[in-house]
Order: sequence, then C-alpha cells, then structure tokens
Amino acid sequence: MRMKPYVYITRKLPEAVIKPLTQQFNVNMWEDKEEPVPKEVLLEEAKKADALLTMLPDVVDENVFSVGEKLKIVANMAVGYDNVDIEAATRYGIAVCNTPDVLTDATADLTFALLMASARRLEEAARFIKEDRWKNWNPYLLIGHDIHHKTIGILGMGKIGEAVAKRAAGFDMNILYHNRSRKPETEQQLGAKYVSFEELIEQSDFVVCLTPLTEETRNMITLSVFKKMKQSAIFVNASRGPVVNEQDLVEALKTGEIAGAGLDVFEKEPIRHNHPLLKLDNVVALPHIGSSTIETRTAMMKVCVDNIEAVLTGKPPITLVNKAWQNA
Ligand code: DGY
Repeated sequence: MRMKPYVYITRKLPEAVIKPLTQQFNVNMWEDKEEPVPKEVLLEEAKKADALLTMLPDVVDENVFSVGEKLKIVANMAVGYDNVDIEAATRYGIAVCNTPDVLTDATADLTFALLMASARRLEEAARFIKEDRWKNWNPYLLIGHDIHHKTIGILGMGKIGEAVAKRAAGFDMNILYHNRSRKPETEQQLGAKYVSFEELIEQSDFVVCLTPLTEETRNMITLSVFKKMKQSAIFVNASRGPVVNEQDLVEALKTGEIAGAGLDVFEKEPIRHNHPLLKLDNVVALPHIGSSTIETRTAMMKVCVDNIEAVLTGKPPITLVNKAWQNA
C-alpha cells in the first residue's frame, strides 16, 4: 500500500482550517504557539515531508531542500518570501508558494494606521491619558502633523502600495511613488505621480516603504537618504526591517533629520525592549502585525492549504513564486 503524503506545519494552526489536508494526508504540526520551530526539528521533518507549511521566521534554505528528498512544495504563510532561498528551491525542483492578494487590504490598513498614529502621536497621547498626566487643555498639547493634503511617497508600488495609495487618495493626499515599473492605472485612477527615488525622498511628508527585501533593496535607506528628507518627514516601514539601516534611522530621529517613524518591521525580529528605537517618543513601533486580522490570517492559512493540496494531488500551485519551477 502506498504511504499517504506527509505534510509538516511549523506552527499550530486551527484544525478546521487544515482539514482539507488532514482528510487526505498525514499531517503534523509544531505545537508551540509562541516559539518558532527549531532548525534541527525543521530539518528532521523536512527529511520525511512531501510538503512544508512554513512561517516568516523559519529560515528555509538549501539545508532544508538538500535533506528533503520527497519535498515537493514549501507554502510560506506570508506574501514576502525573503526567508526562503528561492534559487535553491528551484534547483531542487521544489515549488515555493506565498500568500499574495488576501492580505493586501489588511496590510494597507495597518500601514495607513501607522502613518496616522505617527503623525497624530496616538501612542503618546493614549499613554498620556492613561498615566493621568492630562491636567489642562493646552493649544500645543501633543501637537502633531496634518495628514490630509500632504504628500505621501510610496516606495514600492505593488498591490499593497496601490491599496495604500487608495487610502491616501481618500485623505486628499498628493501621491508620489517610486517603483521598478510604472503603474499607469494607478496614475490615472488616483492621480499618483511616478518620480525618481531622490525626488520622492526630498518631496514627501510621509515616506512609506513597501518594497520587498531583495539584494537591491537591502540597506536602501541610510543616513544620507534620511538627510535628504524634509525635517518634518515621517518615515513608515511596513515591508522588511533590513531595507533600512536601523542605526542610521536612530541617528536621524535623534538629531531631528526627520520628525518621526512608524515601524511594523525591524532588522532583527523580535526587537528587544532596550533597543534604542524603542526609547524614542517619536517612534511608533508594532510587532510585525501588518496582516494580523483574524479574517486575513485565516485566508492566508487557506491559501497555503490550497497550494499544498493542489501540488500533492498533481495540480498546478495557485500562487507559485518560483515560476521556473513549472519547467523543472
Ligand atoms: C508578509 O506577508 O510578508 C507580512 O510581512 C506578514 O504579515
């Protein structure tokens, strides 16, 4: 009798969501809800697995593929896939899938919330009232920056960038963007203007980073870039931490090169409480929760499940990252 394919999931996911897998395959999960699966466990599981359902903190590199003799698919529960060695996966004939589209709106909502929270100092204000420091009305009490009619510069106009632009249009913002390719529809529909990287940096009141992490974008925002921003600018990062030089960001914030930052991502996650960024009042920091709504995270899990089911039953994956895999 042929053995059922084996699926390993690197976090505990709800039984109801993974039912299409448990009905057909042998499925095992890393049961710890908090801690990521240790690498040695991942490697042991990869040896037996036909499919892996992985999370953002899992480093899925050549070591995993080289032991995964039966491995056919890695379904990574994120739109970003910088934690997976795509080139190696393709070489080993393994499909890599991500979870685009389903998280676009939730991530854009969070990005815009971060922009608003930073501009209007919501975190400081909430703390202020809870700490019983509100004694009087004062014309400059927790004074912030306007959002409406200001200029937003979106670095990386993918689907999330476009969804952020849509929200910015609702706030009557002037929209600039920089991207590898032009987006004529977004330009036409939202009046977004394509500009060079330098123009965006110099002219924006809000610089919003939504680029994927690649060798090209790693360390893209350094002190010299912050120095070219307006001193009233607010920097928002909801893509990946290493796109920014974090030490330079601390310096730019401390020396007043820029006015503030809203950050959902960090160079090293989880960031520790004693990190210099977390000591600054002009920083709003969130623990990488861009897509973290119950509806969206469930949808992301389902996309992973559907991809695994497709590949293990001989059908094409739905959201394939390594397009070259098809011809492998
Ligand atoms: C992604 O999907 O890449 C996000 O960063 C996770 O929320």
